[in-house]
Amino acid sequence: MRLTTQLAAVLPHLVVLSYSQQIGTLVPEVHPKLTTQVCTRAGGCVSRQTSLVTDALSRFFHAVGEPSVSCNPVNATLCPDAATCARSCALEGVEYGSIGVLTKGSALTMRQFLPNGQGLQAVSPRVSLLAEDDENYELLKLVNQEFSFDVDVSQLGCGMNGALYLSEMEASGVRSDSNPAGAAYGTGYCDAQCFNTTWINGMPNLNSSGACCNEMDIWEANSLATATTPHPCNEAGSFTCEGAACGRTNAGACDKDGCGLNPFGAGVKNFYGPGMTVDTRSPFTVVTQFLTSDNSSAGTLSEIRRMYIQNGTVVQQSPATQGPQLEAISTIDQNFCSAKNASSFERLGGLETMGASLQRGMVLLFSIWTSQGDFMNWLDSGSAGPCSNISGNPETIMAENPDASVTFSNIRWGEIGSTFNTSTTIGSGAAVLDAQASALEAGRVTSNAVVRLPLAHGLLVAIAITFMKLLL
Ligand SMILES: *[C@@H]1O[C@H](CO)[C@@H](O)[C@H](O)[C@H]1NC(C)=O
Ligand SMILES: *[C@@H]1O[C@H](CO)[C@@H](O)[C@H](O)[C@H]1NC(C)=O
Ligand SMILES: *[C@@H]1O[C@H](CO)[C@@H](O)[C@H](O)[C@H]1NC(C)=O
Ligand SMILES: *[C@@H]1O[C@H](CO)[C@@H](O)[C@H](O)[C@H]1NC(C)=O
Ligand SMILES: *[C@@H]1O[C@H](CO)[C@@H](O)[C@H](O)[C@H]1NC(C)=O
Ligand SMILES: *[C@@H]1O[C@H](CO)[C@@H](O)[C@H](O)[C@H]1NC(C)=O
Ligand SMILES: *[C@@H]1O[C@H](CO)[C@@H](O)[C@H](O)[C@H]1NC(C)=O
Ligand SMILES: *[C@@H]1O[C@H](CO)[C@@H](O)[C@H](O)[C@H]1NC(C)=O
Repeated sequence: MRLTTQLAAVLPHLVVLSYSQQIGTLVPEVHPKLTTQVCTRAGGCVSRQTSLVTDALSRFFHAVGEPSVSCNPVNATLCPDAATCARSCALEGVEYGSIGVLTKGSALTMRQFLPNGQGLQAVSPRVSLLAEDDENYELLKLVNQEFSFDVDVSQLGCGMNGALYLSEMEASGVRSDSNPAGAAYGTGYCDAQCFNTTWINGMPNLNSSGACCNEMDIWEANSLATATTPHPCNEAGSFTCEGAACGRTNAGACDKDGCGLNPFGAGVKNFYGPGMTVDTRSPFTVVTQFLTSDNSSAGTLSEIRRMYIQNGTVVQQSPATQGPQLEAISTIDQNFCSAKNASSFERLGGLETMGASLQRGMVLLFSIWTSQGDFMNWLDSGSAGPCSNISGNPETIMAENPDASVTFSNIRWGEIGSTFNTSTTIGSGAAVLDAQASALEAGRVTSNAVVRLPLAHGLLVAIAITFMKLLL
C-alpha cells in the first residue's frame, strides 16, 4: 500500500534523467531540516542542525533505467539473486510534502491523510533522525540521560497512533557496495516486531526473514491514551530472524509485547485525556528519564521514569491503583514488569537488555499510523483506554478525522535534569521551582501526583504564550 501511494505521488513527475548506481534521480532527495538540542546541566542546551529521512520501504523503487518497472524481488529477471537484484534496482527521492511530513525549525508535523484528487489517501509517514552529516542516522545513547519533547496530540482521535520511538538500527543504514544509498535513503529499518519486509538493509529479502532489533517506544499515543514500552531482543544491533525466532512464542528473538506502562491500563482513568490532569486538548512536554542502579552511564538500566510539564505545572506519572500488586506503581522498573507478568520481557533480560541497547546507541523515529488488523485496541480500548473497539477502524478514522495529525517539537536530550527549565521561564518563583524540579529529578517526590507551581496567573499566561510561540 505504501509503495502504491508513493508511485501515485511520483508518477506525475517522471522525467527521464541519468542514474547514479542504485540511487534514482527522478526526484531529488532533500531531507527536511529539524533542529534538535543536546543539553548539559552546566552549559544548557546547544542546537544541532539535524534532519529527517523517510523509510526506504515506502519509497518508489524501480529497475535501473526503467522507471516504469517497479522493483520487486519476485521478478526473476530483475532478481535472480540478491546481489544482482540490489544492482538492478534504484531507490528514488521523496517530496516530503507528498507524504504528509512538514518541518519548521524544531517542529515536525505529520499528517495521516492527504487529498489525492478523488478524496483522501492514507500517507502514514515514518521518518528517522539523521545526524548533522545528513548521511548517517543520529545515534542516541540515553542511559543515565533524559529525553524530552513537546507534543500536540489534540488532532489524534481513537485508533490513531502518533509515535516517537528508538530502534537499534545501524547508523549507516547498513550502507555497502550493494546498498550505496544507506541511511540517506532510509535503509536499515528494524524493530522488535521483526517484520518480514520486502527489503532488509538495502538487500532483497528472498527467504521471508524478519528485520529485528531492540526497540524502545518512548511514546505511542493519541489524545485518549498513551503507552511507554521497552521491547528487548536477544541479539545486539540489527539482525534477521527466520521461522519461530520471528514469532511470539518462547522461541521469539524479540519481546513483541514489551513491558508497557499506560496510565489508564494501570487503573488511573482520569490522568491522561481531554480535560484531565494531562490535558490533551493543548500541547505539553513529555520528559523521560533512563535511570541506572549506580547513577552512571555505564550502569544497569533500572528505571524508565516519566513526567509531564503543562503550562508551567510539573506532573508526575500517575501512581497506579489497580490490583494489590500494581498499587503505588508509577514508573517502569523491575517491580512493575514482574507485577505485569511480562514474561518474554523477563526471558530476554528486561531492562538490563534494553539498557545495553541504549548504551550502544539507538536511532530516533517518528510515525503516525492506524492499524487495520486490530484497530489499535491494545492502545486505547478495553482495559487500555476509553475508546470503543471499532472506533479505530481506519475507514472510520478517515471519514471522521480527516485532519488527523501530530506535532512533535523541541526535541532534546542530555544529562538528567538538563532538558527542562522550569526556573528560567518564571522569574521570581525560580528558587522554589528549582527545588521542586530537582526533587522530581532525584525521585524524592513520590507521593504527590501533581506539583502545582506557585505562579501568579499573569505569569502563567506569559509562559503559555511563550510555549505556543515555540511550537509555531
Ligand atoms: C535553561 O536555561 C538556560 C539559561 O537561560 C539555557 O541556557 C538552557 O538552554 C535552558 N534549557 C532548556 C532545556 O530550555
Ligand atoms: C521484470 O523485470 C523485467 C526487467 O526489468 C521487466 O522487463 C519486466 O517487465 C518485469 N516484470 C514485471 C511483472 O514487472
Ligand atoms: C536468508 O536471507 C538472509 C538475508 O536476507 C541471510 O542473512 C540468511 O542467511 C538467509 N537464510 C537462509 C537459510 O538462507
Ligand atoms: C514474507 O513476505 C513475502 C512477500 O510479501 C510473502 O510472500 C511471504 O509469504 C512472507 N513470509 C512469511 C513467513 O510471512
Ligand atoms: C494551557 O494554556 C493554553 C493557552 O493559554 C490554554 O488554552 C489551555 O487550556 C491550558 N491548558 C491547561 C491544561 O491548563
Ligand atoms: C542515585 O541518585 C539518587 C538521586 O540523587 C540517590 O538517591 C541515590 O542514592 C543514588 N544512587 C547511587 C547508587 O549513588
Ligand atoms: C500475574 O501472574 C500471577 C500468577 O500467575 C497472577 O496471580 C497475577 O494476577 C498476574 N498479574 C497480572 C497483572 O496479570
Ligand atoms: C468488539 O466488542 C464486541 C463486544 O465485546 C465483540 O463482540 C466484537 O467482536 C469486538 N470487535 C472487535 C473488532 O474487536
